[in-house]
Amino acid sequence: MSADLYDVIARRRDVRAEFAGGEVPDEQLVRVLGAAHAAPSVGHSQPWDFVLVRDQDTRARFQEHVESERSAFAASLPPERRSTFDRIRVEGIRDAALGVVVTYDPERGGPQVLGRHAIDDAGLYSTCLAIQNLWLAATAEGLGLGWVSFYREEVLADLVGLPAGVRPVAWLCLGPVTRLQDEPDLERHGWRQRRPLAAAVHHERWGS
Ligand SMILES: Cc1cc2nc3c(=O)[nH]c(=O)nc-3n(C[C@H](O)[C@H](O)[C@H](O)COP(=O)(O)O)c2cc1C
Repeated sequence: MSADLYDVIARRRDVRAEFAGGEVPDEQLVRVLGAAHAAPSVGHSQPWDFVLVRDQDTRARFQEHVESERSAFAASLPPERRSTFDRIRVEGIRDAALGVVVTYDPERGGPQVLGRHAIDDAGLYSTCLAIQNLWLAATAEGLGLGWVSFYREEVLADLVGLPAGVRPVAWLCLGPVTRLQDEPDLERHGWRQRRPLAAAVHHERWGS
């Protein structure tokens, strides 16, 4: 058992407000991207790519779009959920050192991806594993990472020039942080609590 791995898993947080400014040194960036690229993937298809976005103008345009999606979600909430949501930040796009757009290419690996014949989503699962590796490696490096999903795929695809068919899966805010919170923001702000593990574990059949 590696206590270090469990420690990193426990310390990992979704970061929005704690970005400290400053850069991620190239060798550190290569290490965390290398961890992402070492993820398992269906049929070894490695369907991910990483678009590194440092340009402040691109980031400002993305943040504006995210803000409009945030407002649309806020408007859908009943009043008491809305006042809770109003206190919660959902991104640190401009405060982070850079954005990493992680993409999924369903064509990668050719027409017969071993293991994806019955479950098309297995390609997307693989991309999410790369993201989780990146997240844990960033945490191990003392960096912070925040996943942003308040966007329309076509808007982000256009913003960073993705080829037709390649889907953006996440905009990740990555960079040095002042600290990592002990508790998830959504718990601290009373949005939602973690379920007990026992409620998530079933024996033999669902519900037992
Ligand atoms: C698929 C996915 C999408 C997410 N999208 C957002 C987002 O748009 N904005 C945000 O602030 N956090 C986002 N998060 C982070 C979650 O809110 C966060 O993981 C959760 O509240 C638990 O907190 P923790 O990651 O600090 O443990 C996303 C996480 C995942 C896995």
